[in-house]
Amino acid sequence: MKLFSRIIIPLLILIVALAVLVTVVTDKLSVRWFTRDLELRGSLITRTIHDSLAEAVQKKDNKKIQSLFARVVQDERLTGLILCNEKGREIARSRDFPDQLTCRALAERGFENAGVIRNADKPLYISIEKIPVSIDENYYLIPAHDMGYVNRRTTEAKKYIFGIFIVVMVILSAVVFIISRISLKELVHGMQSLLRSTVIREKTYGPAELRPLIKDMRFWVDELEANRIIRDESQLSWTSQSLKQILHNELAGNEVLIVSNREPYIHVKNNSHTDVQIPASGLVTALEPIMRACSGTWIAHGSGNADRLVVDENDRVWCPPGEKSYLLRRVWLSKAEEKGYYYGFSNEGLWPLCHIAHTRPIFRNDDWETYKAVNQKFADVLFQEVKTDAPVILIQDYHFALLPRLIRNRYPNAVIITFWHVPWPNAESYSICPWREEILDGLLGSSIIGFHTRYHVINFLDTVDRFLEARISRDSSTISFKGEVSAIHAYPISIQYPSRFVSSLPTQRECRKYVEKNTELLPNVKMGIGVDRLDYTKGVIEKFYAIDRLFEINPGWIKKFSFVQVGAPTRVSIPTYRSFHDEIIFHAEQINKKYEKDGWKPIILQSRHHDAQEVYRYLRAADFCFVNSLHDGMNLVAKEFIASREHDDGVLILSQFTGASLELIEALVVNPYNVDQCASAINMALEMNPEDQRLRMINMKSIVQEYNVYRWAGRMLLDAARLIRSKKFLYRDIV
Ligand code: G6P
Repeated sequence: MKLFSRIIIPLLILIVALAVLVTVVTDKLSVRWFTRDLELRGSLITRTIHDSLAEAVQKKDNKKIQSLFARVVQDERLTGLILCNEKGREIARSRDFPDQLTCRALAERGFENAGVIRNADKPLYISIEKIPVSIDENYYLIPAHDMGYVNRRTTEAKKYIFGIFIVVMVILSAVVFIISRISLKELVHGMQSLLRSTVIREKTYGPAELRPLIKDMRFWVDELEANRIIRDESQLSWTSQSLKQILHNELAGNEVLIVSNREPYIHVKNNSHTDVQIPASGLVTALEPIMRACSGTWIAHGSGNADRLVVDENDRVWCPPGEKSYLLRRVWLSKAEEKGYYYGFSNEGLWPLCHIAHTRPIFRNDDWETYKAVNQKFADVLFQEVKTDAPVILIQDYHFALLPRLIRNRYPNAVIITFWHVPWPNAESYSICPWREEILDGLLGSSIIGFHTRYHVINFLDTVDRFLEARISRDSSTISFKGEVSAIHAYPISIQYPSRFVSSLPTQRECRKYVEKNTELLPNVKMGIGVDRLDYTKGVIEKFYAIDRLFEINPGWIKKFSFVQVGAPTRVSIPTYRSFHDEIIFHAEQINKKYEKDGWKPIILQSRHHDAQEVYRYLRAADFCFVNSLHDGMNLVAKEFIASREHDDGVLILSQFTGASLELIEALVVNPYNVDQCASAINMALEMNPEDQRLRMINMKSIVQEYNVYRWAGRMLLDAARLIRSKKFLYRDIV
């Protein structure tokens, strides 16, 4: 529409105005040309009959004059003639010469002023020709030319000119239209993709429910800007090499230690031999490539039943298995410690406290005491591993809120970067935690505290503002507390790109065959995929509701589409998780019973551990991926799906409550609580044309590629280095 109002319509107006102008000018010019023509014709007639006429006049041969006149007026453009002497006496007049014009009147004007007169509504052009008959006697021959043909021809010419202008106008408009279309095509496509990612088929669901989502999307786009995910001009492509370079240049090769609860490799007994498992953990997915690049020490809970069998006398083992990139130092926890610190305080207390998933946190004194003790235990193990005075320590997640302060007390010069992998709640929600001040105090032992999004950074600043006597600078996003400064920033986590799992992945066709062989997926059926830990925050049941709704509103998909849900059982010692697991199975069975036919099932639930290689096969095989978290710090499955694509096809449906949705705006962004909207997003994903899929996927891929996990770690390390450099003088005044 804008193209019409801004370009085509003004162009048309301009051409019409030009056409009118040209027509008026043509009119005037053609009248002038024709008049001139008539004058010439008048002279020509005179010259032709001059001699004969002069002779006839001298002889007063009236008959001859009339016969000459009769000859001349045969020309249809000549109406008549009159011959006058210079005194105004009429000598001869042809039959049709207008009566109103007399020799007397002409003589009174001195036989001047040729021009146009009207006779019986016909325009006539009168020219006046002098005929010298003798030296002292002049006669005047006055032809009256019919000007009707002049008007006819002028009108005809005007028509032609107007016609030509119309043709030019149409051609020009078409050319402008085509050119603008071609140049705007990409942009328009981009915009359409963007809007279509939230616009869920109006014809089915009506526009009202879409509006909030589009509004939200605009807000997120603004947020993305506000988050200032800045392109590092000097560092456009982040690799393990660039990360090593940063450590070497900026941190002078400081030793790097990571502390996390979950270990990157779990050794498990399998009859007579030992298997190695990579846990289903976003944190591990992100950190493992970093550790490979840094060659440091990773301290984590040794949770596998064969873990003790493979460590050395200092509880260390080289990783990855079979290589010697970095050391894993295992920490052993008793059942009671695991129960209080991991299951209890971390996962029944802090986990639901940080996620808005409507599951109440449970805070027990015993769990808190154990949590404190285990944090101290990890600190003690870390002190054994640290070799220098100023190590760089990367602490991971809500399991270690107290650890930064314990380390800071022992190593004042340590660079402590704590990354909180889950959302940070608002101050009101957080206030229900009975040990809220202690947790904040513990965290503020860090040099840098990182969150996935700016929302969480703001929530954290507000929380500290409310519960501690600290000095907060919102401009620089820093908190001064107990004489130390902590910077609070957003670092959106990502995956390794290109992923090491993708380089060895079979083709999409082979992956699809693999899934068909290992599950009940039928050939020639569209495949959706979900990969989640079976956690109540992941919106798995809500996905099933949406699938049920899809078949209700569009039964055409029955037997034509199946959803494969890969689910890793998790935290099964916690009753909420156990009952959630049962609920998932129950809902999948209910929906399957309702629709299954001839061996086809709508939901194929794979409730077991899958290793990373296998997960990538499932992701590559699928036509779309559905990430439906009710609340999620980032969600790396969304990014893994993008990395898995072989031909830039496939559609991502992504919950608006994931950190990933701030970056991957070309996904179909949905509200997991809006069942109808999710159902129509599935429908849209299944019907999306290949070009749309490609455009969206290319954009998302470039984001995942550029903002990869090396950048995530690199940005934190660069900020840490900057902080060390500026600490001595920049903050001295405000501390
Ligand atoms: C979330 C947490 C991670 C944790 C992961 C798996 O992503 O932020 O810290 O590793 O869940 O949970 P688990 O309890 O199995 O380690």
